[in-house]
Amino acid sequence: MSFITRRKPLGASQMSEGGDALRRTLSWPHLVALGVGAIVGTGILTLTGVGAGLAGPGVILSFMLAGAVCACAALAYAEMATMMPAAGSAYTYSYTVLGEFLAWIVGWSLILEYTVVCSAVAVGWSAYAVGFLQNQAGLELPQALIAGPHAGGLVNLPAVFIALAVAGLLLAGTRESANVNFALVVLKLLALAVFIVVAGMAFNGQNFHPFMPNGFLPTTNADGTRVGVAAAAAIIFFAFYGFDAISTAAEEAKNPGRDLTIGIVGSMLACTVIYMLVAGAALGAMPAAELAKSEEPLALVLRTLGQPLAAGMMAVVAFLALPTVIMAFMFGQSRIFFAMSRDGLLPRGLAKVSSRGVPVFVTIFTGVVAAVIAGAFPLGEIAALANAGTLVAFIATAACMMILRRREPNAPRPFRTPLWPLVGVLAIVGCVWLFTSLPLSTMRNFLIWNAAGVVVYLVYARTRSRLALQG
Ligand code: ALA
Repeated sequence: MSFITRRKPLGASQMSEGGDALRRTLSWPHLVALGVGAIVGTGILTLTGVGAGLAGPGVILSFMLAGAVCACAALAYAEMATMMPAAGSAYTYSYTVLGEFLAWIVGWSLILEYTVVCSAVAVGWSAYAVGFLQNQAGLELPQALIAGPHAGGLVNLPAVFIALAVAGLLLAGTRESANVNFALVVLKLLALAVFIVVAGMAFNGQNFHPFMPNGFLPTTNADGTRVGVAAAAAIIFFAFYGFDAISTAAEEAKNPGRDLTIGIVGSMLACTVIYMLVAGAALGAMPAAELAKSEEPLALVLRTLGQPLAAGMMAVVAFLALPTVIMAFMFGQSRIFFAMSRDGLLPRGLAKVSSRGVPVFVTIFTGVVAAVIAGAFPLGEIAALANAGTLVAFIATAACMMILRRREPNAPRPFRTPLWPLVGVLAIVGCVWLFTSLPLSTMRNFLIWNAAGVVVYLVYARTRSRLALQG
């Protein structure tokens, strides 16, 4: 079989060798906590401002669109993750359904996604931490050390610090912190609830006029920025994912059928509702143009409303809780490396775990690369690149779900996507549409990353693949 078409048989997605399978220790509350922990982060706390700058108050539509596309993709994920509860998520589904080469592209895109998500969240963390130190604690920090060159600084040092610090915590074996993660998730949701109430009381409908100053479809500004509701949706999409990080833990779920369905669909739905409320409250309390200027828009709204205490609380929660988002994506990254190297496509040494159960190489690699990117680039650009990788994984997963319905109609499915042809098509068309609404420079960078990936595949992975060696 050629490398383009060779596929893992269905049921072999956990194709393990010796003791390579992971232990089943997680149930649905862990997975919902993992999901909400990974979803609610920089997207809602910071990109709300970036989105308001691109779309005006119409960014509320961007939230709806991105949420709808993600909901469709989440259903496909739930079906695939319960059929193939194996580490590796979209990569593993693609290997079974679309063949090795496309699976490689998906896996390579996921490595990019997981790395740059860590960078983006680190930049968001930095903004809230700096905002707190300057506005609440009264410290003046030198611009050179709190912003990258794009914003007149040298390096965003706090962002570098947090990316490395989280990697360091993981290296020290901090993975056992399910309880801490749970507490932080609760704290994050409480802070957003306080925001909705406080900002909601200052609601001013006038702020929603004009609703779509930059139109709906993407148009390109004089400075090359793509604006409009669709362009904002392509960025805001960032706020919604993270539930896919749950599916990378599928092999560790105690009862995958029930736990994953509740984990993925539940955390996705909960977040969509919360986001609509937060975005609506923020836009009602402050003109979109003002929100757009801030790197910590929710704290700014609260300060402007004369609520410094609530603003400080928002900053403290971001300070404490955003690192869990980075942690969740670093965890997902180690699962992708684990799955790809188990299949022989990456060197086994890369996914090796230490005696404390820590994937040392993956953690250092992700921490360092994420820190470098976070230190130098603007949040919008980083988030857009993460979105490109994620959109490809979502498209692949929805395609796998549809193809498998045709190819293996009678295979056991603990979760079945309702109205699957419609949901599958909506997920694919929606993701392709969001992808084409991304900044042109993002599409170019994404292409370069995948061109490099194809070279690595042809030079290294193609001949070392476990399937190839098995003949
Ligand atoms: N959805 C995650 C966030 O917004 C990646 O931070």
